[in-house]
Amino acid sequence: MSLTQKIVILFSGEGSNMEAIIRSLHKKEFEGFQVHVVATLTNNPNAKGIERSKELGIPCEVIDHRAFESREAFDAALAQAILAHRPNLTVLAGFMRILSPLFLRQIRAINIHPSLLPLFKGGNAMQESYLSPMKVAGVSVHYVSEELDSGDLIAQEAVGKIEGESFEEFKARLHSLEHRLYPEAILRVLKEKVTL
Ligand code: GRF
Repeated sequence: MSLTQKIVILFSGEGSNMEAIIRSLHKKEFEGFQVHVVATLTNNPNAKGIERSKELGIPCEVIDHRAFESREAFDAALAQAILAHRPNLTVLAGFMRILSPLFLRQIRAINIHPSLLPLFKGGNAMQESYLSPMKVAGVSVHYVSEELDSGDLIAQEAVGKIEGESFEEFKARLHSLEHRLYPEAILRVLKEKVTL
């Protein structure tokens, strides 16, 4: 019988990365272990991803950050909800909240960012990367640390810029790269744990 590696996915909006992760990893067998997406969680009651998650057979828990009086109170409730599932890894996929040290002391989390970190940290990465004079753009997967978009890198991939490409086309290319790279990076992290 193979081991089960449990993951929880956090998102705030569209949830396209969440969907890609569920479709490529959930209940699939990988060299000695199976991946189970045991829960999805969002801080945004209006997130489009809530419906996507349900359609994929995984009910989404909503913890609205606006119902809490401080960042710490929200983070404590979020950490508790995650830990209830006893996951091996927590995966941030477009989760638009900065997490406090209190949260990170309890939860081992990774994140995806649409730039070649350490370039273009923060919420405007795609646009800054599109407008920059650089010839390449890309996507990074990294451990979540107390400083925004700054934890150790797990995976990174570059794509060449295409002359005359619109911002919409550029975004779509980066998104499809994310949808392949993130499941690969998650597997890499889970495999390291299995062999420990
Ligand atoms: C992605 O571009 C991701 O890199 C960033 O937020 C976006 C989320 O998109 N952190 P989606 O909700 O997965 O469609």
